[in-house]
Amino acid sequence: MDVYEAVSSRRAVRAFSERPVAEELLERVLAAAAWAPSGSNLQPWHTYVVTGAPLTRMTAQAVSRVAAGEPWDDREFEMYPAELRSPYRERRHAFAQQRYGALGIARDDFEARQRAAIGNWNCFGAPAALFVYVSRDLGLPQWADVGMYLQTVMLLLRAEGLHSCPQMAWSMTRTTVADVVKPADDLILFCGVSVGYDAEPAPQARVGRAALAETVTFVGGRRGAKSDGRRHLVARTSLSG
Ligand SMILES: Cc1cc2nc3c(=O)[nH]c(=O)nc-3n(C[C@H](O)[C@H](O)[C@H](O)COP(=O)(O)O)c2cc1C
Repeated sequence: MDVYEAVSSRRAVRAFSERPVAEELLERVLAAAAWAPSGSNLQPWHTYVVTGAPLTRMTAQAVSRVAAGEPWDDREFEMYPAELRSPYRERRHAFAQQRYGALGIARDDFEARQRAAIGNWNCFGAPAALFVYVSRDLGLPQWADVGMYLQTVMLLLRAEGLHSCPQMAWSMTRTTVADVVKPADDLILFCGVSVGYDAEPAPQARVGRAALAETVTFVGGRRGAKSDGRRHLVARTSLSG
């Protein structure tokens, strides 16, 4: 599988089959992902691989506390700003419509949305999960390094025929994860990543992306000249695809 195919076939899978994932395969992927770049080569990621009985224990515990409406753990970082401004607000709205619309859940059906969201804490049925932490004393650039590492892991998983779902939702129940993985005190859980073989057919329509001109500006070159050197290519605010 070439890199373009790995990038375009990666999607957040939310229904995994029970087919187990070989430990050697996970080791191979994580060893290769260690080549992800990081500022000054700090390699600030700390990854716990959880499978088998410990994963079953963790997900059972998490699902039961979320289903019972127990309070979330104290936040160690804000997942999103309290008020999302345009264009992020519209993109989140479009995502929610696509995600819940695909499940046949109406916009105002809060309970059905909650039920679907609970799948997060069952790792959507995946037989393996990674929990990726970053040291508390590191800053934004190192969090960005962890993001690059995560995408590297997810693309390598595609090369192995596997799928994944990154899940910040796990940070809301981080103590349940900590009970099992026992991380050092100086680590913050950024996210979990469910890993496995997908149980759902590839969707007809993927979650869309903003038009390129909304996120990329060419300065100079042929495209830059067309748009007066600095301006965006096309004035378009809608989501494509
Ligand atoms: C850092 C990060 C955290 C995410 N957290 C969750 C999550 O908690 N639950 C979930 O179902 N999807 C989560 N996602 C998946 C996104 O919703 C998904 O990547 C996005 O909608 C784009 O869809 P695609 O990955 O299928 O292309 C997360 C993605 C990232 C990168």
